[in-house]
Amino acid sequence: MTGDHRADEHRADDAGRPADPTPADEVQAVLADPASTTVVDPTDVNPDLADPDFVADVVAPSRDIGAKVGEPLLEVSGLTVRFGGVTALDDVSFTINRGDIFGLIGPNGAGKTTCFNAITGVYEPSAGSVTFDGRPLKRVKRHEITRRGIARTFQNVRLFGEMTALENVVVGTDARHRTSVLGAALRLPRHQREERDAVDRGMALLEFVGIGARAAEKARNLPYGDQRRLEIARALATEPKLLCLDEPAAGFNPSEKVALMELIQKVRDDGFTVLLIEHDMKLVMGVTERIVVLEFGRKIAEGTPQQVRDDPRVVAAYLGVPDESEEHADD
Ligand SMILES: Nc1ncnc2c1ncn2[C@@H]1O[C@H](COP(=O)(O)OP(=O)(O)OP(=O)(O)O)[C@@H](O)[C@H]1O
Ligand SMILES: [Mg+2]
Repeated sequence: MTGDHRADEHRADDAGRPADPTPADEVQAVLADPASTTVVDPTDVNPDLADPDFVADVVAPSRDIGAKVGEPLLEVSGLTVRFGGVTALDDVSFTINRGDIFGLIGPNGAGKTTCFNAITGVYEPSAGSVTFDGRPLKRVKRHEITRRGIARTFQNVRLFGEMTALENVVVGTDARHRTSVLGAALRLPRHQREERDAVDRGMALLEFVGIGARAAEKARNLPYGDQRRLEIARALATEPKLLCLDEPAAGFNPSEKVALMELIQKVRDDGFTVLLIEHDMKLVMGVTERIVVLEFGRKIAEGTPQQVRDDPRVVAAYLGVPDESEEHADD
């Protein structure tokens, strides 16, 4: 065989045979067939997807559960963000340990999203520092922050509406691909392998968040709750060390919220660390190890859910009145 055969339009392996169809090829066939229903049975695609342990392994391929758990992953120190005359975030410090679900709560306008934006490189902090996985994030570009292992979702759903659920997730996995554009154009075996891996992993991610059957549905046609889950799958596709969720249960009814919190616990149990912004105090109390409370850009409390719930400043911030600290944490 000579180099002239490299651009052969028939996808063939090194021995010249057409490559065997893989689960990924079959998903792509489903996606490409306009007559096919948009409901996919994930176990038709890959029987292994019936096994939750298999799915969890594929979702977190480089996890090392237990390694370094409890050690600092994200350290925020004196973080300050000003917009003109408004100080949206004022000298805020906290540390998130590996393996935690860490809650960031506070009333409307408290600075929660601003804090996310400063961590993920959307805003340049006016003062203070962020250290992630032992390295400072000062002036690090957003895509580089993703590459270092921070992924996020947004307060308002941001998906590619015309793309299928699977494609939305594969876009996330693409951030990890190593072959060049030239490699892709020549359909080098390595690129084909990465493409297949991305689709296989995408299916596992969708199954992990509970929407594997909707893989071939356009994102904009998914029910709102499934869109929220898809965003989480897409963020996980980048293999983050830290997953930041900005009010992922906003607009959910109580039972949907509980189901989402169960998913977030499953994400953590699979080896990810989670930073969770949530408005519903009661909900956050049930799933987090530690909580920071913001009000008017300042940190007014930090501690375990128990400590925070009993803090009079937190009660006042949430209820507008001091001292009636019983069972009314809903907003
Ligand atoms: N890009 C911006 N330009 C100017 N002011 C901003 C900007 N982003 C946020 N702010 C202001 O900063 C403060 C904090 O806003 P932020 O969105 O961080 O609050 P939040 O805690 O996420 O609130 P919510 O619960 O409503 O989402 C608010 O007063 C807001 O108006
Ligand atoms: Mg917000």
